[in-house]
Amino acid sequence: MIVTEELPLRYTTPAEWAKGALSDVVALLGDHAHLEKKAASNALELINRWQGIHPPKRWVTTLANIARDEAVHLSQVTRLLSRMGATIPKTHFNPYAQGLRTIVRKGQGPDELVDRLLAAALIEARSCERFLLLSKATDNPQLATFYQGLWTSEHGHFRVFVTLANTVRPADTVTNRWSEWLDHEAKVIQSQPPGHKIHSGMDRQANPSPGF
Ligand SMILES: [Fe+2]
Ligand SMILES: [Fe+2]
Repeated sequence: MIVTEELPLRYTTPAEWAKGALSDVVALLGDHAHLEKKAASNALELINRWQGIHPPKRWVTTLANIARDEAVHLSQVTRLLSRMGATIPKTHFNPYAQGLRTIVRKGQGPDELVDRLLAAALIEARSCERFLLLSKATDNPQLATFYQGLWTSEHGHFRVFVTLANTVRPADTVTNRWSEWLDHEAKVIQSQPPGHKIHSGMDRQANPSPGF
């Protein structure tokens, strides 16, 4: 069941996006598999980015739980691919995540960590938006159920990453930075080329999209 909680995103993807993305389901799932793999490894890597000598136990268990969830998602996606006679592609190009991370304050200790957590939160939130559109647009009931289940899981992760950011820096500092990240993400997602990716852009010639 999908929770109808609002996402804070500052660009709304038109529903037409999903038709283009679903026109090659194998390619879409191949991209998705890599995203889940990356999400799992990113959660594990964040464990060691705690700024103190030893991270709090809750920090470790929370991130380990996210990594476990993402590994389960990866397994689910690869099973779907396998049923279609396909497998995870050897290579993956992710211009959306690359574009997002251009504003990470590298080498700036806790500020860098806050940025990495907020970037992760935004990837989760945007994925939620896209899974909902895909679940409504697909004519494959199995796929629709899968995307609906992911919405709930990734929405939980989105909230957890924001909560973790608030343990690293004071809440007002994080809130101000979050607003900058939301503006940045809205620009990055709109600059993506169309294609069969979870974070692909719109085919603007076929479906002109509004600005934000
Ligand atoms: Fe996931
Ligand atoms: Fe996630």
